[in-house]
Amino acid sequence: MFRSIPPAHVAFVAGSTGYTGRHVVESLRKLRIETHAHVRPDSKELARWKEEFGTFGAMVDTTPWEQDALNARIAKICPTLVFALLGTTKKRTRASKAAGSDEDGYEKIDYGLTVMLLNAVRAASTQPRFMYLSSVGVSSKPSSNAYLDVRRRVEAELTEGNVPYTIARPSFIHGSDRDDVRPTETLFAKITDAAVTLVGALGAAELRERYRSTDGKHLADNLVMIALDPAAENTIIDGSALRRFE
Ligand SMILES: NC(=O)c1ccc[n+]([C@@H]2O[C@H](COP(=O)([O-])OP(=O)(O)OC[C@H]3O[C@@H](n4cnc5c(N)ncnc54)[C@H](OP(=O)(O)O)[C@@H]3O)[C@@H](O)[C@H]2O)c1
Repeated sequence: MFRSIPPAHVAFVAGSTGYTGRHVVESLRKLRIETHAHVRPDSKELARWKEEFGTFGAMVDTTPWEQDALNARIAKICPTLVFALLGTTKKRTRASKAAGSDEDGYEKIDYGLTVMLLNAVRAASTQPRFMYLSSVGVSSKPSSNAYLDVRRRVEAELTEGNVPYTIARPSFIHGSDRDDVRPTETLFAKITDAAVTLVGALGAAELRERYRSTDGKHLADNLVMIALDPAAENTIIDGSALRRFE
């Protein structure tokens, strides 16, 4: 029996240079999906990304983070899938401020750039699926934790708006193939994994699946398959549903 041919997809990946992002680019290209990997134009590692993404056959896009420029780019590419995988950390914010950069924290990057991308999608005539990488622990209630609260606000923009979306809420994302050393996150991930393994053994399997860590490759493979799944449109995905293609 012949399987139906899936419609042609074009993907735009913001945050492509991050740990999750680079795996998403690779996963998309394995499926031969036309992929535009966005890299900020002032990236010190632009040459590296051009070479690495070039080996997968992905195109590097260096559109500046300015609303008009991004609107024009999204209108031109007409993506069917837009991945928002951006984020900073407290450590990065402190380091860039110490170095005299005006790079800001969660408000400017995690919320501001993500919503700028969403606005570009809103302005487009096509209706791509907006794949947003949120986090476990986010809920619809305001949080005193700035990291969780900016994600709650982005999620609200999606769930209350008209753009087709999928929100993914993973727990710790870590693996030995991460470039940046994150000892505290790694330690927390290990402690959490040990605790939820015990909880899982006691019968709370879904709790274990929600909180155990994942690595970039597995998360990316799942995000891409979920992006291609019509049933995942306008849903929030976590736990075992976010590991369904492992
Ligand atoms: N790590 C975790 O355990 C975890 C768990 C749950 C959810 N999340 C969330 O999932 C997302 C991806 O996580 P990750 O660990 O894969 O992220 P990551 O490796 O830290 O990558 C972050 C991405 O954001 C971009 N970015 C940061 N600051 C920027 C700026 N000022 N201008 C433009 N781009 C900027 C980075 O670009 P450059 O390379 O150019 O800096 C990079 O592409 C984030 O929103 C994160 O908060 C993470």
